[in-house]
Amino acid sequence: MQTEASLQDQLHDFCGVFNDHLRALAPHGPSQRLNDAIAYALEGGGKRLRPFLTMVIARHHGAHESTMMAAGLALELIHTYSLIHDDLPAMDDDDLRRGRPTLHRQFDEATAILAGDAMQSMAFSVLANEPTADPSMRMKMVAELSRASGPEGICAGQDLDLAGLSNARNHQDVLAIAKHKTAAMFRASCILGGLAAGLAGPILDQYGAFGESLGILFQLRDDMLDETGDEEKMGKKAGKDRDAGKATIWSVDDSLSSRDVLDLAHRETLALIGQIDNKPPLLQTVCEFVMARSH
Ligand code: IPE
Ligand code: IPE
Ligand code: MG
Ligand code: MG
Ligand code: MG
Repeated sequence: MQTEASLQDQLHDFCGVFNDHLRALAPHGPSQRLNDAIAYALEGGGKRLRPFLTMVIARHHGAHESTMMAAGLALELIHTYSLIHDDLPAMDDDDLRRGRPTLHRQFDEATAILAGDAMQSMAFSVLANEPTADPSMRMKMVAELSRASGPEGICAGQDLDLAGLSNARNHQDVLAIAKHKTAAMFRASCILGGLAAGLAGPILDQYGAFGESLGILFQLRDDMLDETGDEEKMGKKAGKDRDAGKATIWSVDDSLSSRDVLDLAHRETLALIGQIDNKPPLLQTVCEFVMARSH
């Protein structure tokens, strides 16, 4: 297995290239305020873990670099839009994101809503216009990404999340929220990586199952960091979920301890990696990184 230090190096190198591509998407539409808000969102930090996963899988299976990049950009645009809306006063009401003021704090609420809306459209436009992907590949990517971000994915998960403890009684309910609001996008990140390389059939499903399990683990760890983490390292406020009545494995009553639930998700993710025949060795390191991460 590759070490976590080598993963950090590879992630760092990837971010160098990826962030240039992302910045280049800053729009030049007729509203300077909206252009500036989107540029602000595209500049700001972020681990870029979803597009990194796409790249790791796509490269392993020989995808064209440009196709892979388009898939990663589309995923990151949707992810970043979801964070902008997640931070709005009507949702989590956060002031700090990626170590800077949230978009609605830096600009205003209406601009944050519109910037998020615009970034969704931009994501699908990047996929629809990618010249190195044939039309059928573009359609499959658009279909996967819209499934992950729509009423069966992020939007459903966010709505369940907002209902909080009034709607979640045990760890299974918490996992269902994580599955939709977060894991759907990790699943799509892996599937788009496979699609970019022309994969089809069972291996795509295996990558999808791995991505979903990793995404659940990622959200459980995020909830844990909210309980115990360091605001400085995370670049966002900690200790908010409990006060906001959020359903997490730390706040629901359950026969399993929160540590048991986390360990189960970790083991399940490793088991799903084990089922993929021809896979990039880095997947296991990514899983360990997600399990141990402090930001
Ligand atoms: C934050 O995602 C939202 C969750 C799903 C928990 P990330 O932790 O990947 O955020 P960035 O992109 O690195 O800022
Ligand atoms: C957000 O989950 C998941 C999204 C789909 C945006 P959180 O609300 O826990 O994410 P943070 O902690 O604000 O990053
Ligand atoms: Mg939230
Ligand atoms: Mg939040
Ligand atoms: Mg959180």
